[in-house]
Amino acid sequence: MQVYPTPRTRNSGNPPAPPRMPAPTLDFKIAFLEGLLSQFGERPIRILDMGCGTAKDWPGILRSRPWVTYVGVEPNSKSRSVANELLHGLPAKVLAGWGEAMNAGESFDLTVSLSVLEHVKYLDPFLRASVAATRPGGTVVHRYDLGHSLYPASKYERLLVVVSRRMPWIVPASRFTSHLDPSRVARILGELGLSRVEVSYAQMYSLKQAMNRLSRIENGRELAERVLALDADVCRAVRPVVTDHEMAHLFPSVIVRGVREP
Ligand SMILES: C[S@@+](CC[C@H](N)C(=O)[O-])C[C@H]1O[C@@H](n2cnc3c(N)ncnc32)[C@H](O)[C@@H]1O
Repeated sequence: MQVYPTPRTRNSGNPPAPPRMPAPTLDFKIAFLEGLLSQFGERPIRILDMGCGTAKDWPGILRSRPWVTYVGVEPNSKSRSVANELLHGLPAKVLAGWGEAMNAGESFDLTVSLSVLEHVKYLDPFLRASVAATRPGGTVVHRYDLGHSLYPASKYERLLVVVSRRMPWIVPASRFTSHLDPSRVARILGELGLSRVEVSYAQMYSLKQAMNRLSRIENGRELAERVLALDADVCRAVRPVVTDHEMAHLFPSVIVRGVREP
C-alpha cells in the first residue's frame, strides 16, 4: 500500500539514503489552510504568506481555487527558487526579503504566517508588518509551532532554543528558534489594532507523528481526515478543563488570528 520505495542498502558502508516520501495530499497544515480559505467562499481574495519557504502546500490549494491570488515573502534564496518553480503558472509570486522589512505594494484580504513566528528574531516589527499589509476588515492569521521548544528533536535544537531565548544577540536571524508565549502574540496584535483576537491550538503531538505517515499512504486521505477529526474532537473536549500552559503541551501548534479594524 505504501507508495514510497524501500531504501536500497549500499555496499559502501554509508547509511542507506532516506526513502523519498511522496507529498501528502492532506495533513494538518493543508487541512488548516483549506478550512481557512473556505471561510472566504469563492470571491476573489489576495493572500500574503510571510516566510513562505518553498510554498510547498500552496500549489494544490491554488489550483483548486483559481479566484485566489498569492504573494509569498521569503528571505532564503534557495527556498525562494523552489517556491518559484512549484508556483509556476499559478496566480502567485514570491518576493525576496524579511517579513518585517517587506514592501508588498498592495494590501491583502488575508495575511498568514505558517511555522514562522517561532523563528522570527524581531517579533514586534514582523507582527506590525503583518497588520500593516492587511486591508481594513481583512484577516491576519499566525500559526506557529511550540514543538521546537517543548519537544526538541535534537540536543542542537534544545540548545538553539535556550540560546535564542537567553542570548538572542548571538543567534543570527536565519537560525533563530524560540519559545513564544501565545498570550504575548495576542497582546501585541491587539495593541496593533486587531480586533476579535483569538488563540487556538491543534496538532496533538502523537497524532502529528501518526499523520506524518498516514498522509503519505496511497489513498490515505480518509485516514488523514479521521486523524484530523480526532485531533479536533480531543481538543474541544480538553479545552474547558485544562490551562493554556497544558493546552500548549498537548497541542503545540498555536493559531493566533484577528481582524484589522476597518
Ligand atoms: C519552518 S519554515 C516554514 C516555511 C513555510 N511557511 C511552510 O509552512 O512550509 C520557516 C520559514 O520562515 C522564514 N523566516 C524566518 N524568519 C523570517 C522573517 N523574519 N521574515 C520572513 N520569513 C522568515 C525562513 O526563511 C523559513 O523559510
